[in-house]
Amino acid sequence: MVPAPVRNAVRARLQRRFVRFQYNYLNWRAQESVFRYLNYGYVDLEPHAPMLRLDPQEETNRLSIQLYQHVVESVVLRDKDVLEVGSGRGGGASFLARNFHPRQMVGLDYSGLAVRFCSRMYDIPGLHFQKGNAEKLPFADASFDVVVNVESSHGYSYVQRFFAEVYRVLRPGGHFVFADFRGAAFVPALNRELDESGMILIQKRDITANVVESLDRDSDRKKALISQLVPAYQLQPILNFGAVKGSEIHGKFKNGELQYWSFVLHKPKG
Ligand SMILES: C[S@@+](CC[C@H](N)C(=O)[O-])C[C@H]1O[C@@H](n2cnc3c(N)ncnc32)[C@H](O)[C@@H]1O
Repeated sequence: MVPAPVRNAVRARLQRRFVRFQYNYLNWRAQESVFRYLNYGYVDLEPHAPMLRLDPQEETNRLSIQLYQHVVESVVLRDKDVLEVGSGRGGGASFLARNFHPRQMVGLDYSGLAVRFCSRMYDIPGLHFQKGNAEKLPFADASFDVVVNVESSHGYSYVQRFFAEVYRVLRPGGHFVFADFRGAAFVPALNRELDESGMILIQKRDITANVVESLDRDSDRKKALISQLVPAYQLQPILNFGAVKGSEIHGKFKNGELQYWSFVLHKPKG
């Protein structure tokens, strides 16, 4: 009989592989389509929160953009070297490059399809995309001031390796801004792994309610988009992956089985 911890670890590994497969599949299906973001979005729930100003053509992606805005709002990107790990279809990296004026903005993703799409799609000075693995970053030590990571780490085989890599590529005093979801039972482990990374926690926030509000507002639009892209026999798993209303993942966010957190950390100066 295989012991339960080994069984759970194997199951978790297979699930993460399946997640990566789903992202590749979506990227393949989406090809040149309007999809620029692949995250669940964020809504500021403060009663009089100011509305983020966006170009009219970006309104359709407002909720996903608001998640990026939330993630980076407490760090300075201007004139910095910024890396986004898990940049997907590049909307976030492009938004950061255009609005926060880093010296250099690099988007890195595991999916060659996504990287090729982004390299064709965005022509912004200082912004470029490359293929690579979060757990083995293809960069020299101390080469970035800020590392951004949005809704990507839940698919990594060993997230501790990713955190060690972030620590390595950050300059002393640099920042790591990070947001993602986990099963509620795995949130303590995530906190421990961040704690053991050598970086210092500046801020952490449970943003589950903000993300659920975004999922609720965006459900109909997302359903329609996914239905156009994906053949009927593949529809259910992808709608679930998109956490549209009525899906299992949406239900798990609603009942607290899944939690969404954001973190700001920094690498000590020395
Ligand atoms: C949900 S998407 C988020 C994309 C983007 N951050 C956004 O918010 O639109 C997750 C992305 O992480 C990428 N990813 C998954 N595992 C990765 C890994 N080990 N290394 C680099 N990227 C990875 C996937 O290919 C996918 O593009």
